[in-house]
Amino acid sequence: MNMEQIPPSVECEPGWDPSTVAVQAGRPARSPGAAMNPSIHMSATYVHDADLSYGRHGNAGWSALETALGTLDGGTAVTFASGLAAATAIAELVPTGGTVVVPSVAYFGVRNIFRRLVEHGLLHVRPVDADDTDAVAAAAAGADMVWMESIANPGMVVADIPVIAEAAHAHGALVVVDATFATPLRQRPISLGADVVMHSATKFIGGHSDLLLGAAVCRDSTHALALTNYRYEHGGIPGNLEAFLALRGLRTLAVRLDRAEATAMELARRLSAHPGVSRVYYGGLPGDSQYERAQRVLPDGCGAMLSFDVAGTVEQTNQFLADLRLVTHATSLGGVESLIERRARYAGDATIASETLCRLSVGIEHVEDLWADLDRSLRAALALPA
Ligand SMILES: Cc1ncc(COP(=O)(O)O)c(C=O)c1O
Repeated sequence: MNMEQIPPSVECEPGWDPSTVAVQAGRPARSPGAAMNPSIHMSATYVHDADLSYGRHGNAGWSALETALGTLDGGTAVTFASGLAAATAIAELVPTGGTVVVPSVAYFGVRNIFRRLVEHGLLHVRPVDADDTDAVAAAAAGADMVWMESIANPGMVVADIPVIAEAAHAHGALVVVDATFATPLRQRPISLGADVVMHSATKFIGGHSDLLLGAAVCRDSTHALALTNYRYEHGGIPGNLEAFLALRGLRTLAVRLDRAEATAMELARRLSAHPGVSRVYYGGLPGDSQYERAQRVLPDGCGAMLSFDVAGTVEQTNQFLADLRLVTHATSLGGVESLIERRARYAGDATIASETLCRLSVGIEHVEDLWADLDRSLRAALALPA
């Protein structure tokens, strides 16, 4: 890579709050007339230089985003075309024939990556219940990698990363945490003992449902180098416009998340008292099965994702989703607009989510407008009095 493509960036002070780091990290260094933002680098190749310079190697736009994500998570970041491209690359850190501990309940795309590697005879997988910390610790014996998703889809399970990391490291296993739901502003897995953090920046980091991008942040720079080489060789590179937009999204993550999280907490409280709801899954709610662990591992908040079971049939649940006028019935999460979906409609989630479980990604709309929409649609679908 031609290092002249990578201009120095502003320094972040060690004492800054992560919300300040999210605003400042990765900006071009200050000098008279310097731009506030990195440019969008639309070039597939570069004039011949001592080093090979080609679009798959990197550019200043990726580097700006990687600097910001690396500074936030306390490691070296490598960005990819999507969260799944990042996960695929991270799985390559396991030697052929190695063993990976994988939660049975996690995003089905990630579980699929490991299923295929097993089918191809490349890896062994030990499925675990991430809620059972002792079981995860026991499964780490003889494993090469422990993969955790925290906060996990769709039941919002919070993994006890400090305890799991200690046990995994005692057995020489790498610890990877998919921190997509928690974001770097609510959970910094490297500071809790993990080796690699994975983000689908498609979600809260991008924040506007208008891009796909993934990142791996590594404690150890040799892992970052291995992932960078993998990206070059396999081609799962981020788009240049997407990298620019993801960094722009990161700048406002703190305010978006603060608002969406406060709304999520309020909706979780109200939904748990609603006659049309039989169970709410949100670690920030006192009484939730994850509450105690979340207080330790996610002391700054549980983010803006929650799930709940509709107290009715699958048909009534589908009716409730169809009746919503503000919250959109769509997959994905982390955007400024609230999205909801019935996870069991996916074959990959049919065995891990109840048929009436709805996953809600809370956006930044007004809480009362969201509540009115949810309450009205639940009552209509379940024939409850208004
Ligand atoms: C927890 C989690 N990890 C990873 C991914 C995959 O990310 P992407 O869609 O950017 O490939 C998703 C996507 O929904 C996700 O929810």
